[in-house]
Amino acid sequence: MTDVHEDLHHEQGALAGEHPGRAQQPVIKVQDIAWLELEKPDLARAEVFAHAFGFTTTYRSASELNLRGSDPGAPCVIIRKGRSRFVGPAFRAADAADLVRLAAATGSTVRRLPEHLGGLSVDVREPAGALVRVVADTLDHEALPSQEPLPLNVGHDLRRTNAPQRPPRRPAVVQRLGHVVLQSTRYRESLDWYLEHLGLIVSDFLFFPGQRERGPTMSFIRCDRGDQPADHHTLALTLGPRNRYVHSAYQVSDLDALAAGGEHLRDLGYQHSWGIGRHIQGSQIFDYWRDPDGFLVEHFTDGDRFDCSLEPGWGEMTASNLAQWGPPATPDFLGIAPGKESLREALAMIPAVRNDSEIDLNRLLGLMKVARS
Ligand SMILES: [Fe+2]
Repeated sequence: MTDVHEDLHHEQGALAGEHPGRAQQPVIKVQDIAWLELEKPDLARAEVFAHAFGFTTTYRSASELNLRGSDPGAPCVIIRKGRSRFVGPAFRAADAADLVRLAAATGSTVRRLPEHLGGLSVDVREPAGALVRVVADTLDHEALPSQEPLPLNVGHDLRRTNAPQRPPRRPAVVQRLGHVVLQSTRYRESLDWYLEHLGLIVSDFLFFPGQRERGPTMSFIRCDRGDQPADHHTLALTLGPRNRYVHSAYQVSDLDALAAGGEHLRDLGYQHSWGIGRHIQGSQIFDYWRDPDGFLVEHFTDGDRFDCSLEPGWGEMTASNLAQWGPPATPDFLGIAPGKESLREALAMIPAVRNDSEIDLNRLLGLMKVARS
């Protein structure tokens, strides 16, 4: 096995007896994340933001909005009218036979999806309570025109002569959904559930500062497509005082699309959260925004792709370990800005220590260290 983590300043391989980062015999191996399902009170407001962020509408009714990127395939976000909440992720299985296998292993059934989505689905609850949908044979929309990466003069490698560079300040065209990050009070149980049921494999583990011996508290997880490369993470799971959506990320063509698209969102008065920078886990160039309902969404470009041969890396979970370059992680991104959300998070810590979550006082102290280190 190749160890790509060798040269990185903070990463180390697994020690004897640590989590192997993959299941021996998973029920199925999903191919990719398909879409996310959310509920929002105002679909019109959600659609205005979505278009400014770079999505295209594929379906709209009084009670539902479907958004897509320019890549071919299914929509990548499904929003139904309701109170403001994250419902769950959907993953794409290799075929319908895998759905039958998963349904049998989880005591669920294969159901037909509504006509505008097409295909079949199995709906299962993971241990932290998120509704996980695994789909196959959904309607494939054809590719839409995307944004071409700009020709760059890189060092002495000249790609444009007598041609000035003028990236338009416009919505960055979203190409596809890349990943979702979820917080779980039973992180370890959720992690094992995803590895055993969906065949996902861990790219990187993080642990609370000074608590490596207590095991990982965050994992970046990718699809196992054999020798076909997959995103460094399609799902990331992190331990915290309540079960919640953290953020989701959408690929755009290049840095100029991301930066000019960000200026466009800023011009419209939307709330910037953190960026522009380059992550460590996954290496993406990133920029984070808050949608009008407070959901954190990320534009990214140039992310790592790994095939199934790479072993997990191990690193300390700190705010400064979130990026190789860029401004320091903001209180808004870290969820510690004064406001309703951070208050909810803080209040959740008290019962989380007492109930059956994986959080105890020691873990809580570890978690509080993350933002400060
Ligand atoms: Fe992300």
